[in-house]
Amino acid sequence: MRKYLISLFTLMLTAGYIVAQDKPAEKKDSAAAPAYIGIKKCSICHKGEAKGNVHEKWLATEHANAYKVLVDKKDGSEKKAECLECHTTGFNKGGYVLDAANAAEFEGIQCEACHGPGSDFRPLHNKDIEAAKKVGFIPKPTEEKCVECHNKKSPTFKGFKYEEFHKKIDHRYRQAEKKG
Ligand code: HEC
Ligand code: HEC
Ligand code: HEC
Ligand code: HEC
Repeated sequence: MRKYLISLFTLMLTAGYIVAQDKPAEKKDSAAAPAYIGIKKCSICHKGEAKGNVHEKWLATEHANAYKVLVDKKDGSEKKAECLECHTTGFNKGGYVLDAANAAEFEGIQCEACHGPGSDFRPLHNKDIEAAKKVGFIPKPTEEKCVECHNKKSPTFKGFKYEEFHKKIDHRYRQAEKKG
């Protein structure tokens, strides 16, 4: 009798196991777009003299101020999608969402506006650049990235010259590559 009970128990366990296996596996959304994580999570490593003062250099550019100029207009521009799309980071693409509780984390033109949304590449990019690129990392943004915002849709547009404009935002510190 005891033996019978044990095998019945085993059978039930096995059946339970099979049922569990048959359940459609929790759909792991590996194809989901990477999310924006905000500048604090980049600058934690990319600040200070030893790290090339990247954060400090960024802070001195107009990109750091790009949300504030909307507020300063005092005409509600900071509530308009047609302004926010170029004056915030990841607007409606997983970054800035108007009136969201965490909206302030994505004000202005931050690292991720040029280097790509960081959720997936951040743990990879300092170890394996190729793998990081596959999940949205842009190690060397080019003119193509800039003109997503620097174009005629901007009400203040007066033209864009990559060389000239890049000089004003340059935060390269690894000398050997600077020449390349
Ligand atoms: C845990 C620390 C850490 C965090 C957080 C971090 N980085 Fe980095 N990142 C590094 C290190 C280390 C390197 C290699 C830098 C070097 O060799 O001087 C690097 C390199 C880079 C490079 C240059 C890649 C290349 O080799 O051409 C870029 C661009 C970059 N990071 C952007 C970002 C962005 C954007 C974020 C936020 C989404 C971020 N990093 C967050 C540590 C970090
Ligand atoms: C297509 C992207 C884009 C859109 C849309 C956009 N801007 Fe801008 N904005 C820029 C860029 C790029 C600059 C830097 C100067 C330039 O080249 O236009 C800028 C600069 C500014 C400046 C500061 C510089 C100056 O000359 O006054 C203000 C203020 C401004 N924009 C307000 C607005 C307002 C208000 C709206 C919405 C009605 C808006 N922008 C929509 C991209 C954009
Ligand atoms: C307006 C676009 C833009 C923004 C914003 C921006 N970067 Fe960059 N970043 C670039 C470009 C362009 C390069 C140079 C690519 C090349 O080598 O041609 C670069 C290069 C780098 C490098 C490599 C430096 C080196 O010496 O090779 C690091 C690290 C980096 N950025 C990190 C950051 C971090 C961290 C932030 C935010 C604090 C940031 N970037 C914001 C466009 C941007
Ligand atoms: C997501 C939108 C966006 C991207 C991408 C972007 N910018 Fe900008 N940029 C702006 C806005 C908005 C301003 C105006 C900010 C302000 O006036 O406060 C600006 C201002 C500037 C300025 C100052 C303009 C001036 O008249 O002096 C420079 C220089 C600049 N950007 C260079 C670049 C370069 C180089 C790239 C590409 C590597 C780039 N930007 C990518 C939105 C963007």
